[in-house]
Amino acid sequence: MLELRDVSKSYVSPDGEKLAVLGRLDLRLLEGESLAVVGPSGSGKSTLLNLVGGLDRPDAGSVLLEGQDLWRLSEGQRSRVRNLRIGFIFQLHHLLPSCTVLENVLVPTLAGNQEPPAEQSRRRALALLERVGLQDRLEYRPGQLSGGQRQRVAVVRALINQPALLLADEPTGSLDAAAAAELGQMLIELNAQEHTALLVVTHSLDLAGRMARKLHLRGGRLEDSPA
Ligand SMILES: Nc1ncnc2c1ncn2[C@@H]1O[C@H](COP(=O)(O)OP(=O)(O)O)[C@@H](O)[C@H]1O
Ligand SMILES: [Mg+2]
Repeated sequence: MLELRDVSKSYVSPDGEKLAVLGRLDLRLLEGESLAVVGPSGSGKSTLLNLVGGLDRPDAGSVLLEGQDLWRLSEGQRSRVRNLRIGFIFQLHHLLPSCTVLENVLVPTLAGNQEPPAEQSRRRALALLERVGLQDRLEYRPGQLSGGQRQRVAVVRALINQPALLLADEPTGSLDAAAAAELGQMLIELNAQEHTALLVVTHSLDLAGRMARKLHLRGGRLEDSPA
């Protein structure tokens, strides 16, 4: 469902030097599969996820999602794919502070033309929030939740449009060990139940170990075994 072919990406540093981050990288992810990409800080994990999510353009190579080359689409088509086929989770939750849990989860459903949210979206939101144990927190604001609960809201928001692919960048990075383990377990359960492919980039070996497959990002490429 996802294929990266010969993808390269470099940046220009503030002092004008070219910094090659990813070089001729290949990656394949099957429908519903879970995969962890691990690597130390600065190895290019976020860069990789931004390319897959259509947030940043590769210098060379192609990113194919469900058979479509993301970077051959128009800007409008690409944001449509981003909104409807891809869910994002980041280290920080990025929830809207003045909206309730339920409202936050429904935000991605407003991108279409259904406003107020269709009854169907509401039902799905309630069902997912119940599955992650937040059915008693629907009217809470993010500031009234624990870090782990906020991150669970972010997971539900990412899944609300039934994406084909869920991208997570250090999703447990700001949580304590217990909340991190709980979130990792939840992600892998939802991956199975929702049949959403899951690509997690992390430096947490505990989180990575929960995924079906693990690859190491080193020298700008993905490898099967650690150094
Ligand atoms: N927009 C940017 N401009 C210049 N350099 C960048 C930019 N984004 C990332 N980098 C550099 O690319 C390298 C990889 O960054 P990143 O993908 O964030 O690594 P990771 O997520 O594995 O910690 C780092 O050296 C970083 O400084
Ligand atoms: Mg990063």
